[in-house]
Amino acid sequence: MSTTSVSGAADLIAGLPADFRWGVATSAYQIEGAIAEDGRTPSIWDTYCDTPGAIDNGDVGDVACDHYHRMPEDVALIKSLGMDTYRFSVAWPRVQPHGKGPVNPAGLAFYDKLVDELLAQGIDPWVTLYHWDLPQELEDAGGWPNRDTAYRFADYSMMVFDALKDRVNTWTTLNEPWCSAMLGYAYGAHAPGRREFPRAIEAVHHLLLGHGLATTRMREASPRKLDIGITLNVATAYPASDAAPDVDAARRADGMGRRIYLDPLVHGHYPADVVADLAAEGAELPIQKGDLELIAAPIDVLGVNYYFSQKFSGFDEDGKTTTDDGLPVSRTIPLNKPRTAMDWEIVPEGFTDLLVSIAKDYPGLPMVITENGSAFEDTPDENGFVADEGRTAYFTSHLAAVAEAINQGADIRGYLAWSLLDNFEWAYGYVKRFGIVRVDYDTQVRTPKQSALYLKEIAERHRSNR
Ligand code: FCB
Repeated sequence: MSTTSVSGAADLIAGLPADFRWGVATSAYQIEGAIAEDGRTPSIWDTYCDTPGAIDNGDVGDVACDHYHRMPEDVALIKSLGMDTYRFSVAWPRVQPHGKGPVNPAGLAFYDKLVDELLAQGIDPWVTLYHWDLPQELEDAGGWPNRDTAYRFADYSMMVFDALKDRVNTWTTLNEPWCSAMLGYAYGAHAPGRREFPRAIEAVHHLLLGHGLATTRMREASPRKLDIGITLNVATAYPASDAAPDVDAARRADGMGRRIYLDPLVHGHYPADVVADLAAEGAELPIQKGDLELIAAPIDVLGVNYYFSQKFSGFDEDGKTTTDDGLPVSRTIPLNKPRTAMDWEIVPEGFTDLLVSIAKDYPGLPMVITENGSAFEDTPDENGFVADEGRTAYFTSHLAAVAEAINQGADIRGYLAWSLLDNFEWAYGYVKRFGIVRVDYDTQVRTPKQSALYLKEIAERHRSNR
């Protein structure tokens, strides 16, 4: 490891609380493979992968990192990297095939063993109940725009909760509902690949309702004080200038990306400006009596996933402020920063600004960074080792951004890197590599990259400073 990468670590660590958690995150569909084993039925991602042109290279999740068969080896790997927390997701179609009916003991057994394996290694298991793999039958019945899906999600959540609540202390209901709703139902970029904006807005509400129903039921069934929350992908929306149309474009982006989730979760109502924006686009949140109380069920931890921030303009290239449909223009303007292999700009200050804004707008909500990381084009040496300077520098600057947010008063209790392994990066297939551990997909050999050794070193130094 280069000495530059760990220099500055002492300052960084000094700014973190003593009980700060260090970990790594993954999700079921991105690593497990074994899509037809032990009773698992197809999810919307299996169907989407079979859709010609949907995934780069025609990649599919059938094998992925073969984690389903290599789980103990992967848990040992997490241990070897000095991580104290592992955030993983549970595949709904394994636990409750077809999204309805009784629990499938064979599918649940995998997560039961995973939890035992983690605990045996002294690693804290952090369960995400839904990381996008909706059972296909529920999509056939209407998917997340259908209100009933929220109730199906709560029932499924209780199957997992009842089996693992004796050993798992931290629970996330949904990962990134923005992606499920908007990429899945508005932009057609993720499964199920629909482009129906009004339906996407219905999905937003039903995802939040599902979160509220599951949170309430888990809380009632908790054997002891457990941490229950949700994970959002959020960012800072900067206006391109002080001109009113630019400021308004940033307001709208912040409204649709951050406040439409956090306002109902924390304050018990949707932001009025966002509701008005949606009405202008012919979309409405399908709120029924009692929904907002459920959605605002208290949570113990907010999971924050951060990758990049953007700058917004309300002017098009010709200086016009409305589109042909009469809607206000919104477009992103480059911040002129270096980019990752995803073409995402590297904006660590946007991370600090985001965390500080959440602390200010939603006080009293403890946060954990449940994902942060970057894809770069990795070049392994003859031993499969990747000296990933770019990814390591990304971690350094973003950890410093977290420390700075804490310094400015944000309550941040841990940092989980995305991701343990190179994996199936959704519509980008296997080409985009976010892992701190390289996966050779021909042999399934795992080789920690420089960034993994860096994070290990930081975590260990921090722990030894306690
Ligand atoms: C997040 C997802 C995660 C991964 C990273 C790169 O939006 O939660 O599964 O794809 O992006």
